[in-house]
Amino acid sequence: MPKGLKIAINTGGGDAPGLNAVIEAVVLAGHNRQWEVYGIRNGYTGLLNTDEIMRLTPEKVRHISSQGGTIIGTTNKGNPFQMPIKNMAGETEIRDVSDKVIENFKRLRFDCLIAVGGDGSLKIAHDFFKKGMPVVGVPKTIDNDLAATVITFGFDTAVSIATEALDRLHSTAKSHDRVMVIEVMGRHAGWIALNSGISGAASVILIPEVPFDMDKVCDHIMDMEIHGNRYAIVVAAEGAKPAGGSIIAKGNGELGRQDVILGGIGDYVAKEIAKKTGKDTRSMVLGHLQRGGSPTTFDRLLSLRFGAAAVRIIEEGKFGTMVALEPPVIKAVPLEDVIDKIKRVDLNSDTVQTARDIGICFGD
Ligand code: F6P
Repeated sequence: MPKGLKIAINTGGGDAPGLNAVIEAVVLAGHNRQWEVYGIRNGYTGLLNTDEIMRLTPEKVRHISSQGGTIIGTTNKGNPFQMPIKNMAGETEIRDVSDKVIENFKRLRFDCLIAVGGDGSLKIAHDFFKKGMPVVGVPKTIDNDLAATVITFGFDTAVSIATEALDRLHSTAKSHDRVMVIEVMGRHAGWIALNSGISGAASVILIPEVPFDMDKVCDHIMDMEIHGNRYAIVVAAEGAKPAGGSIIAKGNGELGRQDVILGGIGDYVAKEIAKKTGKDTRSMVLGHLQRGGSPTTFDRLLSLRFGAAAVRIIEEGKFGTMVALEPPVIKAVPLEDVIDKIKRVDLNSDTVQTARDIGICFGD
């Protein structure tokens, strides 16, 4: 067993419940092997400005697994290969500062970086691996859209929060005979909308994988009305779009960030339903509540398992990989099998079939 290793860990992209549990498992499993673990602040930016790198000891992390967020911070704007930097003239230009990251990593004598993140952060990890840095990835995202792993941590918590919100919307929608449209996260995959929509008894679920027809959505709502169901709950994934239409985004995104910020589909759908059916309709955006607070027991356990597995993978020297859940085992998969791919809802899956069987409309 290699002794005396010095491990760095960072968390990148949007936060997700379970990040602290990964950190806890890495620190405790590392400590039991007489390794030192250091937290890199705010994704990769902590390897550019190294002042805030912190030694993580068992005392600092014990039972942080129950806490949301990440004790080492995160960012979705810190790609060292495309970093926005102000030049002498005060203008912002995009520069590749990855060599500086490698230089600091070597100077601090780290043996490996555990990169906990979604597709963006893991792509950066892979690029660093190609430059010679030993890395092991851990898959995180509430969106559950990462390839090569059955599930990512954060997803179960987000679905639970969305389901609870749906449960609460039922009583108010029913009291007012209203249509309530709830917009949930998930980027270009419909996992959160699908799983919460079924569990929370939605009448309509709109997901990016099924471009929807507004007339079909409205026909379904009116058909329910004829049969005595005078209210309806519609779940719209933020990346859903009408057939022949496009996704709705909030502006052009942010400097240094790769992906657009989605949002607005719920409002669009609600307005169309009100116009076409004449029904009293409201929309709400569940937003960042889906990422906040404690992880569910499932996410907590999965995150602890992922963190401990990452340490075992380092021990085996399998760098350039990501830990992945392939029930019943957790294994290492090459990072190149994960990046630039997106795991979308399989329309032939039994989950989608279940939704259709119990009368949920996808607008198709
Ligand atoms: O990827 C996680 C996620 O929460 C997406 O579901 C959502 O589109 C995005 O991040 C929101 O990003 P931000 O927190 O930067 O607004």
